[in-house]
Amino acid sequence: MGAWPARVADLLIDIQCRVNAAFNDDGWGAPTLQRPRSVVQRNWCKMEYLRLGKSELKVSALGLGCSRLGSVTQAGGEQAAFRVIGCALDAGINFFDTADIYGQGTSEVLLGKAVKAHRDKVVLATKAGYCLSAMGGLAKHFKPLLRRLLRVRPGFSKSIQKVRAAQARQDFSTPYLAARIEASLRRLRVETLDLFYLHNPPADVLERGEVFEALETFKRQGKLRHYGVSCLAAEDALLCVKQPGVAAVQFEISLLKPEALAQALPASRAKDLGVVARQALAGGLLLGSAAELHPEAYASREQFEAEQSRLAQLEKLAAETGGSLARLALQFLRQLDGISSVLIGTTNTGHLQQHLAALAGPPLSPDHLARILALLGAPPAQGRPPSI
Ligand SMILES: NC(=O)c1ccc[n+]([C@@H]2O[C@H](COP(=O)([O-])OP(=O)(O)OC[C@H]3O[C@@H](n4cnc5c(N)ncnc54)[C@H](OP(=O)(O)O)[C@@H]3O)[C@@H](O)[C@H]2O)c1
Repeated sequence: MGAWPARVADLLIDIQCRVNAAFNDDGWGAPTLQRPRSVVQRNWCKMEYLRLGKSELKVSALGLGCSRLGSVTQAGGEQAAFRVIGCALDAGINFFDTADIYGQGTSEVLLGKAVKAHRDKVVLATKAGYCLSAMGGLAKHFKPLLRRLLRVRPGFSKSIQKVRAAQARQDFSTPYLAARIEASLRRLRVETLDLFYLHNPPADVLERGEVFEALETFKRQGKLRHYGVSCLAAEDALLCVKQPGVAAVQFEISLLKPEALAQALPASRAKDLGVVARQALAGGLLLGSAAELHPEAYASREQFEAEQSRLAQLEKLAAETGGSLARLALQFLRQLDGISSVLIGTTNTGHLQQHLAALAGPPLSPDHLARILALLGAPPAQGRPPSI
């Protein structure tokens, strides 16, 4: 996509933000943040706060992943988004992860509105680097219609996936990033971004390193407090640790995707970078059971059988600890030394409450931690003493 459709899309979002601000309403009939009332907070886990690497930011050990907030596929619309953010705040979650591209900008708009009254208590992380496709920019303005279409024709989600795939073009040039940062500041309603990530930059961008000079400039200008890299592949973190200005890295790490345990996590820890763990539930796979895996989702029968066998062993371990596989998945990452925050990606208040309640139980024992690490083929002694 050329640069002008992105600029037109931005302009439309900007006009919408300004009109909404003028009327103190985002046009979704939600003038105030609505908190869930029927929640028994004492059943939730006690929230722990950790320093994000060398920075002064203190982030909750669990963060809210906001990638689907305000998207076409988010059930319950914007009210549900406000409810899940409210629930996170009530539980002590102060760390919110979004990106300029999520929900074609709507995730940032919703988040900005929802946390406005809590600005001094929250840490907002956003990302840029992807270009909004012309189709994606247009889709933003027809979301109610698209949502209705999706309800009557669930197969329509395939077309949505195609539109998302078309968003794959990236731009890490200084003018592009500067414009994206300005747009994020407006949508999030803040003067400075707490944490700004490059969104899945290719390895050569990280190797060349010019982009970090631009990030230093944005930092000096007060546009962002800290910058980091949200890595497409965990091993990209090995390129980030060479950059003294990088405060945090984000990568995928889970019981089903443990590769980061070998190098990316120890290297980041050694340089005192903040590590944000994402896709902790493997996109939902760690919510089910080994019996629910589909062989057709794997490149080979061997891969499928290996994953099925690992999941079956993890299920047994989870049962031994008296909890679900999802609890094991989240608690394991929460207790890993070097991880500052584990993102839970949900748009559903009930799901978030379920995880918070499950994590209220006792931490995993050193023996269980060691057995999980052995099962994942990871080096031992990565557990930190649980202070939770
Ligand atoms: N490259 C990047 O920078 C990048 C890439 C991916 C993700 N991220 C960030 O990481 C966050 C987390 O990633 P993710 O959302 O892919 O991964 P995830 O946390 O592993 O999985 C989230 C999925 O599990 C479902 N889920 C969660 N709890 C559930 C429950 N109790 N019962 C049933 N379903 C449940 C969610 O659906 P419901 O909404 O229905 O609960 C969602 O579909 C994202 O939101 C985003 O902020 C960044």
